[in-house]
Amino acid sequence: MALLRVLGALLAVLGAYYFYTKETFSEEMVRGKRVLVTGSSTGIGEQMAYEFARMGAHVIVTARREEQLRKVVQKCLDLGASSASYVVSDMKNLTSAQKVIEETKAALGGLDHLVLNHVGGGATFQHFKGEMESLISCLTVNFFSYVQLTVSALDMLKESRGSITVVSSMSGRIPSPFSIQYSAAKFALEGFYSSLRTELHLRKVDLPITVAVLGYIDTDTALKAVGGKINMQASPKGECAREIVKGTALRQREVFYPYWTTKPVLLLRDWMPELLELFISQAYLVENIP
Ligand SMILES: NC(=O)c1ccc[n+]([C@@H]2O[C@H](COP(=O)([O-])OP(=O)(O)OC[C@H]3O[C@@H](n4cnc5c(N)ncnc54)[C@H](OP(=O)(O)O)[C@@H]3O)[C@@H](O)[C@H]2O)c1
Repeated sequence: MALLRVLGALLAVLGAYYFYTKETFSEEMVRGKRVLVTGSSTGIGEQMAYEFARMGAHVIVTARREEQLRKVVQKCLDLGASSASYVVSDMKNLTSAQKVIEETKAALGGLDHLVLNHVGGGATFQHFKGEMESLISCLTVNFFSYVQLTVSALDMLKESRGSITVVSSMSGRIPSPFSIQYSAAKFALEGFYSSLRTELHLRKVDLPITVAVLGYIDTDTALKAVGGKINMQASPKGECAREIVKGTALRQREVFYPYWTTKPVLLLRDWMPELLELFISQAYLVENIP
């Protein structure tokens, strides 16, 4: 009984210490920062660009569709961005990814936040039929280009004491049937960036890496790809973008969104994998999947 009381008191002290020393988010943290958001012509990336813009950051957006990017830039300026511009790039081509960083340096003279978010390269929702070409394309766009952008931006980020944010998914942490290629790319990202974070820390390089672990979000692409095929409610992309931007500014190690449908599931993965598999099997409407 006495031991329980001591443990309770210790937990209360640790909890109070944690909340009092935790830095709180303010828009000032973002004002004037130089930010590159990839995959920002639509979806969560577009919403993150607007969040950074609203708080007065210098924003660069990049994707393949120029007309769409032009509209995003105009809206960023309307929302109050210190500056906004775009770079057209196809992340299937690693040289093109490298050029995005060169153009960012030319436009802003440096970079504070590299936000890696794009997704594409044929990441579809269907049975895996062994298509190697499409797997390689998926890994190029969703993994190798992230690494290329990071490698090319590393010196600038070290110089500015900036940060890297990687938008990941529950598919990078738990089994994800019918999106095997996408899941492989997200698991690769998680392995690469968590190892890089530790390596930088051991080398005493102050370059935080935030990994955002997302559940099902209501972007057009996601609703079209999995709507009617899974038993889940999509969460709003605007709120999701805000949480990632906050996590980036606070230099958090991880962001879970929506928290209650991601974090507890991950605890289950380690403690009761069989129960997790049971939940997964009930989440998919297999008869509707091509
Ligand atoms: N939505 C969800 O339910 C969900 C769940 C978990 C994780 N996530 C993650 O959240 C991030 C954003 O997802 P989202 O749903 O917002 O996606 P989205 O709406 O489909 O947006 C994807 C972005 O990537 C760009 N893109 C696609 N292929 C590209 C290529 N080859 N080169 C350069 N840019 C390319 C697209 O623009 P262009 O077509 O103009 O190139 C677009 O701007 C992704 O990392 C995704 O894995 C999403």
